[in-house]
Amino acid sequence: MYRTNTCGELNINHVGQEVTLCGWLQRSRDLGGMTFIDLRDRYGITQLAFNMETNTDLCNQARKLGREYVLQAKGIVAERSSKNNKIPTGDIEIIVNELNILNVSKTPPFTIEDVSDGGDDLRMKYRYLDLRRTPVRKNLELRHKVAMLTRNFLSSQNFLEIETPFLIKSTPEGARDFVVPSRMNPGEFYALPQSPQQYKQLLMVSGFDRYFQIVRCFRDEDLRADRQPEFTQIDCEMSFVEQEDVLNTFEAMIKHLFAEVKGLHFDTFPRMTWHNAMKYYGSDKPDIRFGMKFVEINDVVKGKGFGLFDNADLVVGICANGCAEYSRKQLDALTDFVKRPQVGAGGLVYIKYNADGSFKSSVDKFYTPEDLKTIAEKFAAKPGDLMLVLCGETMKTRKQLNELRLEMGNQLGLRNPDQFAPLWVIDFPLLEWDEETQRFYAMHHPFTAPKPEDEPLLDDSQQWGRIRANAYDMVINGVEVGGGSIRIHDRTLQNKMFHTLGFTDEQALSQFGFLMNAFEYGAPPHAGLAFGFDRLCALFGGADSIRDFIAFPKNNAGRDVMSGSPSAISDEQLNELCIDIKKVE
Ligand code: AMO
Repeated sequence: MYRTNTCGELNINHVGQEVTLCGWLQRSRDLGGMTFIDLRDRYGITQLAFNMETNTDLCNQARKLGREYVLQAKGIVAERSSKNNKIPTGDIEIIVNELNILNVSKTPPFTIEDVSDGGDDLRMKYRYLDLRRTPVRKNLELRHKVAMLTRNFLSSQNFLEIETPFLIKSTPEGARDFVVPSRMNPGEFYALPQSPQQYKQLLMVSGFDRYFQIVRCFRDEDLRADRQPEFTQIDCEMSFVEQEDVLNTFEAMIKHLFAEVKGLHFDTFPRMTWHNAMKYYGSDKPDIRFGMKFVEINDVVKGKGFGLFDNADLVVGICANGCAEYSRKQLDALTDFVKRPQVGAGGLVYIKYNADGSFKSSVDKFYTPEDLKTIAEKFAAKPGDLMLVLCGETMKTRKQLNELRLEMGNQLGLRNPDQFAPLWVIDFPLLEWDEETQRFYAMHHPFTAPKPEDEPLLDDSQQWGRIRANAYDMVINGVEVGGGSIRIHDRTLQNKMFHTLGFTDEQALSQFGFLMNAFEYGAPPHAGLAFGFDRLCALFGGADSIRDFIAFPKNNAGRDVMSGSPSAISDEQLNELCIDIKKVE
């Protein structure tokens, strides 16, 4: 038997017991008469003690061991003279009487401790060592817990977990596909699924009624802190349901996860239309942990000779409570912030409502103190507040102000990761206009149903931008954690939708024929959604980056620096796949 106990479980009640432990040498301390080793495994750290006087040979052996050696230690549990109340095993140590080196280790390239001296790149290269660190391991333990809770919850609600294929037909769903060449079918390719969307709809046609899958998805898109090329969804679909049923089912699931993981309980999640989310927060994923809602002030600023405002479609601002004292430097920094290319505003107008009731603004030339007072009233501002205003084309200005609002939220400490503000965003537009290609695209995907009352608008291309979808997203703390829709189950409506999206009958049939055909054999009304599992875990873990919650993530260039992928393949392999590539220098 390798071990009797783990390194995380022994305490004062075990004193006197003979035990055998296995683990990695985290640290050793040589105090002359005594040598101590911190032995670490997944469960914790236990101190091993070696006495020079009573066991000289063993103590000498212990002194020679290096960091990350794999050890087996036998000995007696003893009460420590100087206790460590920071760890559960801190009251005891093991007086070792036998020590076996199970494996040696090179000195690791960074310290394997809670706060490591290794930089990001180094830790990614040696990810297997990084994963030995407690904070990283704890993230994966959290991930496991969320997965188990999810499975059990959905299973208890009659959902069946069914696997769907990874080698599928390429059907673009927003992002680019990762493709896989087929050796047996030269010149032809599979795609890796961006999501199991069509398969889960087929499972509804098959009568499975309630499906879920914790499933890997692949998207070839630009990467960010909350986006990986391969990520995991909690993918779900249900038959014979309306939007209300879907929202209630999955709100219950998320509440269950919050209760079990964080011990937090929530009232009914608020619901906000997409229209209001854009109008008041400039984002379809508003962070409602804090207020600072947008205030549109066109009616009180226009016609006073300030050309920028007079010519703008929208003049809109936020009121930062208690910020009238902001210095010139702070205001300049905010102006620089909105002028960055990533935000793209032309400039920033400020109005200070000073504590003494007077006003100071960057547009004093155009507005009298009375005008500024009227503007302040519009903002419901109080003395001591700072109003920050942007102007321009409506949607662009809203998006820019969203960035500024979030920045102010950060600066004022209003985005506390221990506070959670979930909501549903509903009534998304069905179609989105793309300037570049001059055509409409499905905002969600082509199988999303329009709101029944907006269906007639499909017959008038002038109205397409106004059609609302039966689509919904769950947003928590400004993160889109999930989204889905009611599906079109009627072939005629689906055909109409494809035409709206510019598909010819042939194109629709060649891309989606199997689903279209299936729909002719009794497709039930159905709906579903998918949660970003990595994002949920990061949120529960209080982190911004989903990378910390994935065992072997890719870096921002989509590379696995540990294994060195992607990489070139041999000419032999290329020939076998009938792929003729120009070698990139
Ligand atoms: P959608 O494309 O909105 O919907 O994806 C669902 C959720 O998946 C997460 N997500 C990602 N997480 C990490 N990295 C990525 N690259 C990434 N892309 C998306 C988000 C998102 O809310 N088939 C539909 C769902 C449906 O209609 O049922 C779909 O995939 O949290």
